Amino acid sequence: MHKGKNVMTKYVGILTSGGDSPGLNAAIRGVGKAAMGFYDMKVIGFRDGFRGLMENRTMRLDGGELSGILTIGGTILGTSRDKPHRMLVGDKICDMTDVILKNYEANHLDALVCLGGGGTQKNALRLKERGLNVITLPKTIDNDVAMTDVTFGFDTALTIATEAIDRLHSTAHSHHRIVVVEIMGHGAGWLALGAGIAGGADVILLPEIPYDVEHVAHTIRERRRAGKPFSIVAMAEGAIETKVLDETKAAEKKKARAKTKDEKKSASAELKKVGAQYTDKTLTLAKQLETLTGLESRVTILGHLQRGGTPTAADRLLATRLGAACSGFLNDGTYGVMVAARGDGTEPVPLEHVAGKRKTIPFDHPWIETARRVGIGLGD
Ligand code: F6P
Repeated sequence: MHKGKNVMTKYVGILTSGGDSPGLNAAIRGVGKAAMGFYDMKVIGFRDGFRGLMENRTMRLDGGELSGILTIGGTILGTSRDKPHRMLVGDKICDMTDVILKNYEANHLDALVCLGGGGTQKNALRLKERGLNVITLPKTIDNDVAMTDVTFGFDTALTIATEAIDRLHSTAHSHHRIVVVEIMGHGAGWLALGAGIAGGADVILLPEIPYDVEHVAHTIRERRRAGKPFSIVAMAEGAIETKVLDETKAAEKKKARAKTKDEKKSASAELKKVGAQYTDKTLTLAKQLETLTGLESRVTILGHLQRGGTPTAADRLLATRLGAACSGFLNDGTYGVMVAARGDGTEPVPLEHVAGKRKTIPFDHPWIETARRVGIGLGD
């Protein structure tokens, strides 16, 4: 078979950054196998994200380390949420970009591959602006990276959250209860919406659509009237009550307008008080719904279960094809881009078009329309 061999051997570094996500190992393997086996490049790993690059903690990947990892969750490289320009060193936050640039040079790298979500895209762009050849891949269970059809990790988390809703149904039904299930997703509700529809939730609450507790209660009371005295509420981590949102906005405005020290102090205290209502909102909602419907409630927080374990076939396939495509871009010298999933193919998208642009659910998205048409309440 023809190999896409370079005349000069290229040296590539790879790291995983941000929250771990099923499919990361499949992606590392995809990049590594194609880069080393097909293009004859040299590939090394950096441990624990940008921190490992800053501390020059490397991992060889050419001695069988890529074998047997396709089906394994997490990341063999380890990960962290460290940012090059704001890293905790000792007890100080420091800009470690220069050290990172030095280590890139010291390892004779031609390029650095960063696998990560929204934060990683921003950090990669900063390194690009400092002259590094960077390529990223979009990973996150939240599916909120801009300019790609989908991120790897999402399908696995969707499957786990859907199965959880399936299982909660029988117990909610047996006890005539409301079960509020909290699903990951602070800034975007793809996971809650997808799993809510696939699992047949009765109400889905999203960060994109502020909810009114009375509307949620109304949906549940209507169900009881129709002979269904139980309900499943799928709530995204970042879902927010309209009342709290309005109060937060007002407090933020007041803080921005504050001039004197006292005014500033009181505005900050008010903002803090509003923020306090926002913590434990899943438990709060469950209690509010008990009062408003007369039904008993229970809360299930899926948490990190959604990120653990073996990736689905769809995630393995996506991560592998993005990884393999990445090695082609490395070979061509197409740097400063994210390898986006586009239909069955891939597309290099300049990091400037991705960084800092979270992909939230548009109000007219077909999934929203679908939820409404099948009678799922969205709390608005
Ligand atoms: O970024 C993915 C994600 O799983 C989010 O859905 C969630 O809000 C967050 O990470 C949790 O972060 P951590 O693992 O740092 O608690």
